[in-house]
Amino acid sequence: MAAGGSRKISAASARAHTRGPKQNNSCSFFSGISAKILLVFFVGNLAWAYQIIQPPPPRTCGSPGGPLVKSSRIKLRDGRHLAYKEHGVSKDTAKYKTVYIHGFDSSKHDAAISTHLSKEIVEELGVYIVSFDRPGYGESDPHPERTLKSFALDVEQLADQLGLGSKFYVIGFSMGGELTWTCLKYIPHRLAGATLLAPVVNYWWPGFPSNLSKKAYHQQLTPDQWALRVAHYAPWLSYWWNTQKWFTGSTVIAQFLENFSPKDLEFMAKETDDDNEFPRQQGEYESLHRDLNIGFGPWEFDPMDLENPFPNNEGSVHIWHGDEDRLVPVLLQRYIAKRLSWIHYHELEGMGHMFPLDHGMNGAIIRAMVKQ
Ligand SMILES: *[C@@H]1O[C@H](CO)[C@@H](O)[C@H](O)[C@H]1NC(C)=O
Repeated sequence: MAAGGSRKISAASARAHTRGPKQNNSCSFFSGISAKILLVFFVGNLAWAYQIIQPPPPRTCGSPGGPLVKSSRIKLRDGRHLAYKEHGVSKDTAKYKTVYIHGFDSSKHDAAISTHLSKEIVEELGVYIVSFDRPGYGESDPHPERTLKSFALDVEQLADQLGLGSKFYVIGFSMGGELTWTCLKYIPHRLAGATLLAPVVNYWWPGFPSNLSKKAYHQQLTPDQWALRVAHYAPWLSYWWNTQKWFTGSTVIAQFLENFSPKDLEFMAKETDDDNEFPRQQGEYESLHRDLNIGFGPWEFDPMDLENPFPNNEGSVHIWHGDEDRLVPVLLQRYIAKRLSWIHYHELEGMGHMFPLDHGMNGAIIRAMVKQ
């Protein structure tokens, strides 16, 4: 090493020595030095930049120093754990077995559809609902290799390990609603029916006319337009973008109230037992940022190309959406409903994004889904 180094130096100084007098140009010598200094500076900064954009490793539940595991969990085939929570009647007597998929920055504890469903309806219909922490949230292990397909297969494994039978229902809210499309794509044969509540849309799904998705995109707050561009085009920057203190990253992560309609705020004020830290307790990267990167990244399929999973009416697929939703533009939901005529589309006048918190709504949502 040392010998090689000194050889290089002497070769360089030899060149400088022979060239110098010939060109008689101290300026090029000087710019050579400053280029080197610049290069060192640049490389040094790159290393520094690389370090600060790296997310710290997740504080996995049950690992030394990590949060404790307090809930029931299943172990998936690849060794990861999924934590779950059961609601409603016991699954042995249940007529309708449902997997609930929670939204962004949320967890199995925020299964509004089950926690706000009246006891009378649960018992009258015989509803069992299992909610679970999506990978990286709450007490479920992070899944750095997570894909749209792996998520649908996690849902299937959860249902199988809990013995929900050959067919079950899925209900997803918000980003969980967006992920419900993956169940319709990858495990349609396992579904008895599906409900998407205020499902998030990906502005880059190619089925949208570009003028329409552009218009909807610009209805978002400016910081969110940027946070989603980062998630889509530069997912490796998502951690830094949403944690640095120089400017606002995603306003959804920052929990800006501007994202909610007056009706939303009314419902949210009535919620009491929210533990804001639980969903993100293993770290924000494997929960929030990976969610953005996957939800708004390039999808390997377009929901608008899906075929009706129930051609003989053996089940049904429902979308519910508020026309005052400030997080997910109703404009695009209407377009999806128009394209997919087999979807039962329920638009709720005067409702925002959080309508599943309305105690009166959930009975109607469940009844519509299980009606044959
Ligand atoms: C987008 O373009 C189509 C056809 O060019 C037009 O019919 C439609 O009204 C436009 N939509 C919007 C939101 O501008």
